[in-house]
Amino acid sequence: MGQNEYQRRRTFAIISHPDAGKTTLTEKLLLYGGAIHAAGAVKSRKAKRSAVSDWMALEKQRGISVTTSVLQFEYDDIRWNLLDTPGHNDFSEDTYRTLMAADCGIMILDAARGVEPQTRKLFHVCRLRNTPVVTFINKMDRPARDAFALMSEVEEVLGVSTVPFTWPIGSGDLFQGVYDRVNKLVIRFERSSEGQSKRAIMKVTGLEDPELDALLGEEAAQTLREEVELLDGAGEEWDQERFLAGEITPVFFGSALTNFGVEPFLRSFKGLCPPPGEREATGDVTVSPADDRFSAFVFKVQANMDPSHRDRIAFARICSGKFEGGMRVSHFRLGKEIRLNRAEQFFAQERESVMEAYAGDIVGLYDPGLFRIGDTLSTNGPMSFDAVPQFSPEHFGRLQLLDPLKRKQLQKGIQELSEEGTVQLFMEPGREKDPVCGVVGRLQFDVLMFRLEHEYGARVTFDLLPYQHARWVTGAADCAELKAKRVPMAVVDRDNRPVALFRDEWELGRAERDNENWTFHETARIVAAA
Ligand code: G4P
Repeated sequence: MGQNEYQRRRTFAIISHPDAGKTTLTEKLLLYGGAIHAAGAVKSRKAKRSAVSDWMALEKQRGISVTTSVLQFEYDDIRWNLLDTPGHNDFSEDTYRTLMAADCGIMILDAARGVEPQTRKLFHVCRLRNTPVVTFINKMDRPARDAFALMSEVEEVLGVSTVPFTWPIGSGDLFQGVYDRVNKLVIRFERSSEGQSKRAIMKVTGLEDPELDALLGEEAAQTLREEVELLDGAGEEWDQERFLAGEITPVFFGSALTNFGVEPFLRSFKGLCPPPGEREATGDVTVSPADDRFSAFVFKVQANMDPSHRDRIAFARICSGKFEGGMRVSHFRLGKEIRLNRAEQFFAQERESVMEAYAGDIVGLYDPGLFRIGDTLSTNGPMSFDAVPQFSPEHFGRLQLLDPLKRKQLQKGIQELSEEGTVQLFMEPGREKDPVCGVVGRLQFDVLMFRLEHEYGARVTFDLLPYQHARWVTGAADCAELKAKRVPMAVVDRDNRPVALFRDEWELGRAERDNENWTFHETARIVAAA
């Protein structure tokens, strides 16, 4: 116990495209981990559509979850922290920021669809910190793409090597289960009439075992032998170090819905997901989770969790030491000491107060307006992690105020909401009156309009701009210099840094080629202004 508590923490997130099976797999994970006791406890899609989350009136209107949440459960003497990333198409910068707090990712792919756009983006964000990613190829009970082709796609599109830990035995109606390559187990399932699966594990001495033909059928057994031989002969070797560096992803096949292949996946995941590791702080300081010094960074600020109180919760990831309710910490950005009272943690769907937490844990701190995304809190003096960057928005819109008399309210609103991280604010020199807003998920424009109207009394609309990428440019003096070099649109961010906007990757690539003395950054440091 005590300082070693961090060694039994596992903090991870699921990355996937909507509909790949994140909710279904999360539920299996919680069931397996004993955090919930019956299937259906995690919101089903139908329930999701009519979700009554009281966090924001907007959520009710749209019937989707705008927020990311943290689930915590205890299993096999491990404290699991699952950072939930919104799976809906309209995800936000919060999704990316959440990944900065995770030590490992589970990437779920739909076996019929392979790597989809949102998965690609989220994987890319994991890559920024070299976060290890474990792949689960789901829906093998449905017509699926060839397993080799799926692995090639992962390698080519995501630029990561693959090592299958399990291999599917058939697919679609002929899906029988998986071969566990590590333990050399054939794990076969039988479907019952209710669509449930009955587990039938058979340990085979080797794939030559003649009983395999009787078990799987001659043809399936033969195919499995050939495929596994191919993998053993030509496949990539497993290398733990390369996995931890984010260069190799172990691949599992299965069907979350019918439970095929879920158990071997979860069993292996326990061994693969690393405990909290070291984190770099500014000034070449390396923080070890074993350090006595408490340190944590805020990766998300959730406003208005309870509309009647207008309270805010700042979610902080602990990087070292122990959190204790009532402790005094340095707040780097504010340059002063503050007292942290109790914190919230999240057990399945319940919130509960905690008085202590350790490296790897996520705590929800009551926020009377002290915290911003990226803030570092620490004992033994101030320090800063710079753990959460500003990410390139993917949608841009010019804000139009509908009631010109409300300009003051608008200014206050966008200033506060950009500080809170709901939106990124840019100015085009010469058009300061019409700010440009950038968001990662389209829905954030709706969130912004809603909040500006309801919290600040300013009704606005957006003229969408045709840009998809922002790059913070170093090496160029200002916007005029960017414009002179055919950058489609040049703006400054709220810290007055020049930013180039591009319609597509082709335009971006051209600008990079034409201006080799400039550096185009897809993320930017959040400036710690008090
Ligand atoms: P998401 O959170 O990633 O968006 O996906 P979710 O788990 O909600 O799954 C999307 C749909 O795919 C759901 O069907 C779910 O039942 C189905 N699904 C998930 N895993 C599997 C699988 O392994 N095999 C098959 N065949 N289907 C799977 P739905 O009809 O849209 O919703 P629901 O009414 O069943 O909840």
